[in-house]
Amino acid sequence: MSKESLTITDNRTGKTYEVPIEHGTIKALDLRKIKTGDDDFGLMTYDPAFTNTASCKSRITFIDGYKGILNYRGFPIEQLAEKSTYLETAYLILHGELPARAEFEAWVHEVTHHTMVHENIRELMSGFRYDAHPMGMLASTVAALSTFYPEAKAIRERGPRRRQIFRLIAKMPTLAACAHRHSAGLPFVYPDNDLSYCANFLQMMFKVTGSYKVNPVLERALDVLFILHADHEQNCSTSAMRGVGSSEVDPYSAMTGAIAALYGPLHGGANEAVLRMLNEIGSKDKIPQFIKDVKTSGGEVRLMGFGHRVYKNYDPRAKIIKVMADRVFEVKGKSPLLDIALELERIALEDEYFVKRKLYPNVDFYSGLIYQAMGFPVDMFPVLFAIPRVSGWLAQWDEMLEDKDQKIARPRQVYLGAGPRDYVPLDKRQ
Ligand code: ACO
Repeated sequence: MSKESLTITDNRTGKTYEVPIEHGTIKALDLRKIKTGDDDFGLMTYDPAFTNTASCKSRITFIDGYKGILNYRGFPIEQLAEKSTYLETAYLILHGELPARAEFEAWVHEVTHHTMVHENIRELMSGFRYDAHPMGMLASTVAALSTFYPEAKAIRERGPRRRQIFRLIAKMPTLAACAHRHSAGLPFVYPDNDLSYCANFLQMMFKVTGSYKVNPVLERALDVLFILHADHEQNCSTSAMRGVGSSEVDPYSAMTGAIAALYGPLHGGANEAVLRMLNEIGSKDKIPQFIKDVKTSGGEVRLMGFGHRVYKNYDPRAKIIKVMADRVFEVKGKSPLLDIALELERIALEDEYFVKRKLYPNVDFYSGLIYQAMGFPVDMFPVLFAIPRVSGWLAQWDEMLEDKDQKIARPRQVYLGAGPRDYVPLDKRQ
């Protein structure tokens, strides 16, 4: 008997089975042979929300949630945040290695020269209501992009696949800025290919008349935030990207699913929810009552920006963001909500309810305060999460397409509904 195996005794039949263990997992399909008889389908696992199921093997992002470790392709997030740029990190995530200088220059050139969107996309965006949420606009226009690039369907061909990767990374800031300008009633600003990825985005967002000078502190802060949000292994939106992409649809359509998943307040919408929560609390003296409401609501009122499915320790990204927040506040002035956030954090970290459940600040607790200080409207916060996550979604999608173990995603269910019965015509029903 191999030591790397699991022995299972089925008490229903008394039979014993040996199941191999690989990488700390057993194959769910190995359980299928555990049956009570020939007409038994075989044993399955029941795992709502996939809290204990690995859906893929991946070489992109490593997280140790108990130690608070996050590495992209082996590189600690702290080193990348300090030394890298978002575009270099995106290259790393997608290719597995840091680029040599020539590779990096070619990569930046390609991304920079795909920033324009077709004029019809701009017209399409102008059809939204003036108060349309930019995340809804983003999801719709990314879906629309698939109709502009029919070659994107050729997902098994290296050339087209690569071109859609450039296009998606390059056009996302353009679409995001366009969504904002529409809701602000401002004219669209075209991309400036002489600027960096983040500087170009900032000018497309905020330029009003004449020349717009990008503040280098804000440009770097945004770049660091983009690095921190680039990937986070099999989270809800990435699972959506992989799940939808597993049907072999084009990457624009798959990414529309990922953006929709990210929009939810339990995922990428959390930074927006944090700001609304801080505004609602309003002042430090209201914090104890708010904490009490959270604790007595039976899970209904949540301390937004706290807790994480994977991190049971301080989110390493939250630590970096706190430092970045100070730098941004030096330029833009301190947010009045910062004091409320700091006090909330202090109280929550000492409170037994949060300590017992290992609830610590996540990446979203402070990111909203930085975005707000930089002048981004609250509605844009989830969009600011989506822009850099594009590289992670694409890397995960690319990895899935190359993975021979993968098939179309199709979970099983435990059926508990009615048994077979005969149809009753409408006039005979009670
Ligand atoms: N405030 C208060 N209580 C919380 C919070 C919170 N933010 N998060 C979890 N809990 C409680 C739950 O009520 C539950 O308590 P119980 O055991 O008494 O029932 C316990 O902690 C475990 O929580 P779960 O909901 O089972 O944890 P799960 O892993 O499913 O949820 C999640 C993780 C969704 C992130 C959750 O912590 C949450 O809702 N946080 C607030 C929203 C947020 O900040 N989301 C951003 C996540 S990071 C990101 O997407 C980038």
